[in-house]
Amino acid sequence: MDKILVTGGLGFIGSHTVVELQNKGYDVVIIDDLSNSTIKVLDGITAITGKAPLFEKLDLKDRSGVEAFFKTHNDIKGVIHFAASKAVGESVKEPLLYYENNIGTLVYILKELQKLPSASFIFSSSCTVYGQADELPITESAPVKQAESPYGNTKQIGEEIISDTCKVSPNLKAIALRYFNPVGAHESTMIGELPIGVPQNLVPFITQTAMGLRKELSVFGDDYPTDDGTCIRDYIHVVDLAKAHVIALGRLLQDKNKSNYETFNLGTGKGSSVLEVVQAFERVSGEKLNYKIVDRREGDIISAYADTNKANDDLGWKTELSLDDAMRSAWAWEQKVRAEE
Ligand SMILES: NC(=O)c1ccc[n+]([C@@H]2O[C@H](COP(=O)([O-])OP(=O)(O)OC[C@H]3O[C@@H](n4cnc5c(N)ncnc54)[C@H](O)[C@@H]3O)[C@@H](O)[C@H]2O)c1
Repeated sequence: MDKILVTGGLGFIGSHTVVELQNKGYDVVIIDDLSNSTIKVLDGITAITGKAPLFEKLDLKDRSGVEAFFKTHNDIKGVIHFAASKAVGESVKEPLLYYENNIGTLVYILKELQKLPSASFIFSSSCTVYGQADELPITESAPVKQAESPYGNTKQIGEEIISDTCKVSPNLKAIALRYFNPVGAHESTMIGELPIGVPQNLVPFITQTAMGLRKELSVFGDDYPTDDGTCIRDYIHVVDLAKAHVIALGRLLQDKNKSNYETFNLGTGKGSSVLEVVQAFERVSGEKLNYKIVDRREGDIISAYADTNKANDDLGWKTELSLDDAMRSAWAWEQKVRAEE
């Protein structure tokens, strides 16, 4: 089976994708610098799949390290590039850190891929490129809006760099996957989301609050023009998301792509409000969540959810798991992590 490099493969989405790749028989090599993950994740992947992926601890900002890696692994057929820094607030304070880690590393990898006879490349992009879209649900042809943060900008610039590179590199095929809001954990509870410090995302904040690690959840604003007044997002189970990567990779490896640079939205197509997520958590866990409504948070968009037609019809992928499934698995994972501490 083809050898696939997964950068950031010990992170949240990367680890779930490595599991699905190995389940389909791919030969996986992971690069991760452990800046936002732990080596224990490798054991989780091995326990689920019965196979240890190759692992190289490498900071992709080390250009000569990247070159040396591709010299050793010159039989790589595809790369799924997850490695990036992802905290929006931090990116505002430390823009250069984000441009270096998210853009610099992308350039180094693409330079190596240009040297190969052929290469397939999958990029982790985000629905943040659409900002507050004028029309909902959001299709792939919705305009890319001025980025709200350096983090968001790295996704926009990243997509442009890949598109420009594909235009001049006949050997290179790429897909940018624009994720909506990935949540949940593997049902085995062997891998899941492991935020370092205070979680930036809603679901780990909810599970940590229910666990007593956080005093309460702040819900930022209940006066938005939505049914219950709270913001709406499209929460997609991480296992569904991981499977989409395997399908996108297969599309490129089997030359089923329609052009050598494509974009797809990955979401469920259904928007859920913050309060609906809280209710889903309470329903599946039987816990009462301590939360309070506070002022709106600057920069939050009101509503975003995906039009999934292109992913369903062209990519041949659709979600199988529900928000309740995601909340159940996230809660089981949180309980397991805390029991082991
Ligand atoms: N989680 C989300 O809500 C979300 C939404 C949209 C897009 N994305 C994108 O998806 C990708 C994966 O996100 P995630 O949630 O799994 O994040 P994560 O932080 O859990 O995983 C990223 C992994 O990359 C590694 N990494 C970071 N910089 C590196 C470097 N220089 N060299 C080697 N390894 C490095 C980290 O140690 C981590 O294991 C990111 O590109 C992120 O921007 C995430």
